[in-house]
Amino acid sequence: MKITLLYGGQSAEHDISIISAHNIAQSIMYDVYTVQPIYITRAGEWIKGPLIDTSLPNSDLMRLVPAEEMTWGDDAKASTGQAMRPGELDREDNIVFPVLHGPNGEDGTIQGFLEVMGVPYVGAGVTASAIGMDKILSKRIFDQIGLPQVPYHAFDHRLWREDQEEIIQRIEGSLLYPLFVKPANMGSSVGISQVESSEALIQAIENALQYDHRIVVEQGISAVECEVAILGNEEAHISYVGKLIKDVAFYDYEEKYINNRIEMEIPAILDPAVASKIQEYALRAYRAIDGCGLSRVDFFVTSSQDIYINEINTMPGFTGLSMYPVLWEKTGLTQRNLVEELLQLALKKYEQKKGFKVE
Ligand SMILES: Nc1ncnc2c1ncn2[C@@H]1O[C@H](COP(=O)(O)OP(=O)(O)O)[C@@H](O)[C@H]1O
Ligand SMILES: [Mg+2]
Repeated sequence: MKITLLYGGQSAEHDISIISAHNIAQSIMYDVYTVQPIYITRAGEWIKGPLIDTSLPNSDLMRLVPAEEMTWGDDAKASTGQAMRPGELDREDNIVFPVLHGPNGEDGTIQGFLEVMGVPYVGAGVTASAIGMDKILSKRIFDQIGLPQVPYHAFDHRLWREDQEEIIQRIEGSLLYPLFVKPANMGSSVGISQVESSEALIQAIENALQYDHRIVVEQGISAVECEVAILGNEEAHISYVGKLIKDVAFYDYEEKYINNRIEMEIPAILDPAVASKIQEYALRAYRAIDGCGLSRVDFFVTSSQDIYINEINTMPGFTGLSMYPVLWEKTGLTQRNLVEELLQLALKKYEQKKGFKVE
């Protein structure tokens, strides 16, 4: 059996994807599998590397990354890969692990391609990926199943151009500064601003509109951020709750990934009733979006113990320091077993789908 690792990709989370894939490659059971690395460049080209059949202490996956695409690290070398067309993806005895975060990877687009190719793949399907990535659609669904969220307003580009004043009035009439302005479909804090005034709000909306045509404005709250990991298909398991210990106003890309300024408390020191509520909400959110394989669900918890769901990430960061694998490790599942379970879940989902009538 072959595992194809798809990594890199056309999103702001390109670099984190490389580190995640590298980490996953080290957790694969090479007595059973070989690994086919496929690196997707920032421009969307696919580069195929030599098969890997042994545990790699070195940077074999990195070697596919052309020097000009390396924005970090010191081992940039000439790429050893070969350009390929996506349609040349192996369809036999292959499980694809799309280790891609953000738009064009975690949003259902790659998942749709893999469905068309007819190969099993790790993680959420098209629907769950698309909803998880879309901050407006996921909020609508969380509302519908009664999960607590911070108050918000959502609107699109067209409405903003037509009725800017009314939108501002509506926002200011029901939300209190500070506010968070977010493009509906992005990740890793790209295009997100925290604002304290009308002028800043307008600017932040214009800025967010450069990333997407749909915008959500949320009530900012003072809270700790708690995250929980889910593993499974219909029958899903939940990890301990973890807490982010932070020292910046909010996590932006640089703080999160480049400076690695995240500390985690696992299990989070929380009222046990709060922790189990978080776990219950996370599982309900996962079922509601038709989650599959894995997800990390993120929450805010205020000092008065109010819980608000923030978002669900269907392909969470998977570096050695990322919350998702670390949550499982602390809950008692090694990374090796975690990766193996994800591969088995992908096969189960694939077999189940094949069994359904199509007419
Ligand atoms: N309503 C809010 N109140 C307080 N902090 C927020 C709020 N929304 C977002 N944040 C902060 O901004 C970060 C990024 O926002 P998030 O919605 O998680 O976007 P992303 O998809 O980029 O992770 C959060 O982790 C949190 O620190
Ligand atoms: Mg987030």
